[in-house]
Amino acid sequence: MQLFHSITPLQQTLAEHRRHGRRIAVVPTMGGLHAGHIALVDAARQHADIVVATIFVNPLQFSANEDLTRYPRTLDADRQKLEEAGCDLLFAPDVATLYPDGLKGLTHVHVPTVSEGLCGARRPGHFDGVSTVVSLIFHLILPDVAFFGEKDFQQLAVIRKMVRDLHFNIEIVGVPTVRNDDGLALSSRNDYLSHAESEMASLLYRTLQDLKIRLEEGALPDEAIRECLETLTAHGFKPDYLELRRTSDLGEVTQRTHDAILLVAAYLGTTRLIDNIRVALPVHA
Ligand code: PAF
Repeated sequence: MQLFHSITPLQQTLAEHRRHGRRIAVVPTMGGLHAGHIALVDAARQHADIVVATIFVNPLQFSANEDLTRYPRTLDADRQKLEEAGCDLLFAPDVATLYPDGLKGLTHVHVPTVSEGLCGARRPGHFDGVSTVVSLIFHLILPDVAFFGEKDFQQLAVIRKMVRDLHFNIEIVGVPTVRNDDGLALSSRNDYLSHAESEMASLLYRTLQDLKIRLEEGALPDEAIRECLETLTAHGFKPDYLELRRTSDLGEVTQRTHDAILLVAAYLGTTRLIDNIRVALPVHA
């Protein structure tokens, strides 16, 4: 695997691959790689001749009180995992390479509607930071196809809309969430959990599974969701939100919505966990 920290040699290498007609995939990450990221690389290898992973802890998507400084930075270990997964190129720029004029006054990409509510409401500016850096990565790498995890379902919806609205000629592939044996969705932030918190964390997914069953059996969403929030709170979680949305665009569910998704964000200690599960709602005549 070739490692690049700067833009020009990366682009020269990619241009050479493109000249040979090779299909290029990108897997954007912030490092701290786990089996969920490797599943993205595996999927990318199925779809393309050349797989480029990026590792960049993007300051634009963290607000002042968030975990930018403590976010895991494990380049050597990440590099080895990518190498073993058969990744071809790794682009790991520093902040000055991607944002040479600094962050102040930087052009932003804002994707309305799907970025509002849920994590967008709790983390103001977060999705502008994500869509800005992802569009930058797309412009630099010019991939044919890009891979993102479904755990960050709202992020995936934001990127899909951005790609449609701005006519990026890039296929976006969502890859199913990878979980521990106990159901906890893998996340670089799981490293922050204490031993006791790790044992409790899987309750988040179990709660989603129970709620899914109840909703598919016809339970009233507001009431069932309120009860689940109470359960999570009783077990030490501080829920940010637990909401049922339309899968296609994260809009409000109506009586006619069948394909829905439950999305949750909750703190356990100082760690913010997110997860989601699809729900096939009974459709009322
Ligand atoms: O999901 C992530 O790791 C990040 O939000 C992304 C897409 C790499 C942008 O920084």
